[in-house]
Amino acid sequence: MPSSEFEQEPQQFERLQKVLARAGIGSRRVCEKLIVEQRVTVDGKISELGEKVNPEVSQIEIDGLKIGVRQDLVYYLLNKPIGTITTSKDPQERSTVIDLVPAHPRVFPVGRLDADTEGLILLTNDGDLTHYLTHPSFGVEKEYLVQVEVKPSRNAIRELRQGVELEDGVTAPAKVSLVDEKLLKIVIHEGRNRQVRRMCESVGHPVIRLVRSRIGPIVDSSLHPGAFRELKNQELKSIRKILLKDFSNGPLNHSF
Ligand code: URA
Repeated sequence: MPSSEFEQEPQQFERLQKVLARAGIGSRRVCEKLIVEQRVTVDGKISELGEKVNPEVSQIEIDGLKIGVRQDLVYYLLNKPIGTITTSKDPQERSTVIDLVPAHPRVFPVGRLDADTEGLILLTNDGDLTHYLTHPSFGVEKEYLVQVEVKPSRNAIRELRQGVELEDGVTAPAKVSLVDEKLLKIVIHEGRNRQVRRMCESVGHPVIRLVRSRIGPIVDSSLHPGAFRELKNQELKSIRKILLKDFSNGPLNHSF
């Protein structure tokens, strides 16, 4: 029985720095530097400069963070319209976010928005990135524009900032600002069910309209409701930069 290495077609193997660069990690030079600094592993082993990998099967990590390098990986940014639901399949046959993006390759939403919430949501077939973006330990920020009925008092804003008592516990400190008379901007890094609605309700300001305007570094005010686009390499890179920073527990001394 030939070893798995010999079962691969030779052209499936490519230089690691080329594979990393294509995945949006940085220029080849930057990727080479990461390899030299021994921050890259391939299938659990520290990689060497010049090493060849098969992007379809090799498990590549930088600073312990899994990096999706398969060529079939796609990353969509969708502006979810009101009324569309986030689950992949709805028993009531309502329209879902999956209906708004290409059917192949099959993608899944990263986290969820309520049916009555609008705004940005990512969809991808990169399970590792989904995990990192939704796992509370990475604390990726999500920004919401929140319309309320009457101008919130300073006290209400202070409470929202400090954390409010909900039935599933006190919320983490949030960034909260008043952008207009009845419009709040709230940035949270937790992802509890209907969290922003429940936070606002708990300080006496039921939400009239809720729009997610940012996911980590990703913004796009020109994307119309129902429209989607692929993430740019630069955007993917900026997401990974945040994750790597959190993962390595301190600022990186590299410009990715
Ligand atoms: N907070 C909410 O209340 N709803 C959402 O859809 C997202 C965050």
